[in-house]
Amino acid sequence: MSDPGADLHADSAFIRTCRGLPATRTPVWFMRQAGRSLPEYRAIRGTGTILRAIADPELATEITLQPVRRYGVDAAILYSDIMTPTHAIGFGVDIAQGVGPVVEHPFRERSDLERLRPLDAAADTPYVIETVRNLVRDLDVPLIAFAGAPFTVASYLIEGRPSRTYVHTKALMRTDEALWHDLLDRLADLAIESLRSQVDNGAAAVQLFDSWAGALSPQDYDRFVLPASTKVLAAAGDMGVARIHFGVSTGELLGSMAAAGADVVGVDWRTPLDAARTRVPPGTVLQGNLDPALVAAGWDVTRDAADDVLSRGGGSAHVFNLGHGVLPETDPEVLERLVAHVHSWTPGTPATVGSPG
Ligand code: CP3
Repeated sequence: MSDPGADLHADSAFIRTCRGLPATRTPVWFMRQAGRSLPEYRAIRGTGTILRAIADPELATEITLQPVRRYGVDAAILYSDIMTPTHAIGFGVDIAQGVGPVVEHPFRERSDLERLRPLDAAADTPYVIETVRNLVRDLDVPLIAFAGAPFTVASYLIEGRPSRTYVHTKALMRTDEALWHDLLDRLADLAIESLRSQVDNGAAAVQLFDSWAGALSPQDYDRFVLPASTKVLAAAGDMGVARIHFGVSTGELLGSMAAAGADVVGVDWRTPLDAARTRVPPGTVLQGNLDPALVAAGWDVTRDAADDVLSRGGGSAHVFNLGHGVLPETDPEVLERLVAHVHSWTPGTPATVGSPG
């Protein structure tokens, strides 16, 4: 299939590693590298909802490029949000500053399926396509496309706002399993269309964010989530790109998340990478997993924690990342030193970039 981005960057450390091939160095990028801690982001972000910034291709392009320029990371991640497609089809999603996604009329019953029409990316999210094209033109590292996984997006649509307990979501999956699977199947189709539009325009890899899947037991994950996420990852595989599958608190789900069809499985800081390796099939690449709170604690703490992650990662089949997104408190200079440190690291010899203090 057409996959200009993957071809262009097939020899990059990031794509080679995602493909399970040897690379000249451990590649590194950061979830939420765009925005958050960067002063140059705050300077141009403006006020108003992030959905407005995402809908402005010039601005979204520049925000995506900022961390690549400053940190020297091995990949860019599109500045968008997992709720962009459901917002674009008019489900009534907004993203409230300091809160996260909020939904005016949450999904509660079968008739709500009618509010989830298919996404036509060219008509509904032309700004995403334009941003991707700008980026593929301007970047010299691969661009990561992404989508929200059906479960995590469903949790926002059903709860109506960020939740700790997922009571409404878990009630729906248990009390009307047929509706639950219909909902997840629609959300899988939205994710596929969104990913396809990003890959067709040059993105070189995809990450499926199932950030909140760790709220489920392994048996519930396999029964209620795995089929829809497998559908998305199979479609992404057909697009010819490497697939990263990520969630938080998913230590017990890593085997299932690999089985869903991932080339790379994201791991948070709760599961050491050497332990994670034993939970996924041989050949699966791992991504992670430095605790973002430690990075916010300064360089000395970061360096020591990074060395532990690197040695447990084993020096191959490892994409260095944080275990979750960059925290707003993070000093950009620490991330800059961290990238250089990861790049200079070789197995068995702790790197010496940057002096203590
Ligand atoms: O740098 C990048 O990672 C690319 C941009 C990106 C954003 N959201 C921009 C954003 C990506 C990949 C996402 C994905 C996303 N959105 C996820 C999955 C990743 C994860 O963290 O687990 C989730 C769960 C969401 C939903 C969402 N959007 C939340 C929970 C929030 C945070 C609310 C807050 O203010 O703390 C958002 C808003 C959001 N999306 C921000 C950014 C940079 C922060 C608000 C802003 O800058 O306006």
